[in-house]
Amino acid sequence: MDLNWEELEGMCLNCHKCPLSQTRHNVVIGKGSKKADIMFIGEGPGEQEDLQGVPFVGAAGQLLDKMLLAAGLDENDYYITNIVKCRPPYNRDPLEEEQRACINYLRRQFLLVRPKIIVCLGRIAAKAVINPDFKITKDRGIWIERKNTYMIATFHPSAVLRDMTKKKPAWEDMKEIRRKLLELRKEQQIEG
Ligand code: URA
Repeated sequence: MDLNWEELEGMCLNCHKCPLSQTRHNVVIGKGSKKADIMFIGEGPGEQEDLQGVPFVGAAGQLLDKMLLAAGLDENDYYITNIVKCRPPYNRDPLEEEQRACINYLRRQFLLVRPKIIVCLGRIAAKAVINPDFKITKDRGIWIERKNTYMIATFHPSAVLRDMTKKKPAWEDMKEIRRKLLELRKEQQIEG
């Protein structure tokens, strides 16, 4: 079934597929450019995101914004969303069944945006999108190509806030993501 944005957003807003729908204030669908070359995927909304209905607006989001800006990426370059669209109570990890109930919304978002690059922010997103055995400390920063889409994972900005030793590798990853973006755009210019 091919959905357009309006249909997809309507389905998300009316979703009651899992118990997170009972405690949410808002469904948090995504932000940024719907024609972006990069799709960032976090884990799930936190308190501020739930209250405002927008992903990555709390402390982790502010760090992410700073890193994106410093890496030379602007809002036209990216779309940001999460594995689950409703806040898990007390910011616990989303359960497998909650992720399963929600993952089709993410697939639809991917099909509509069609990014060249997917960036998983943290372990939960990397396991759900790249590989269930993903080990964030060992496997981050490594590109994987699947059907012409390049995927990479980096530390979640909340993890960077908790442990400053993660800041340098997270920053290296962000610069690498920007480098890859420019490379892919250049290749496309040459081909096109
Ligand atoms: N953490 C996430 O994974 N997603 C958000 O939207 C906010 C914090």
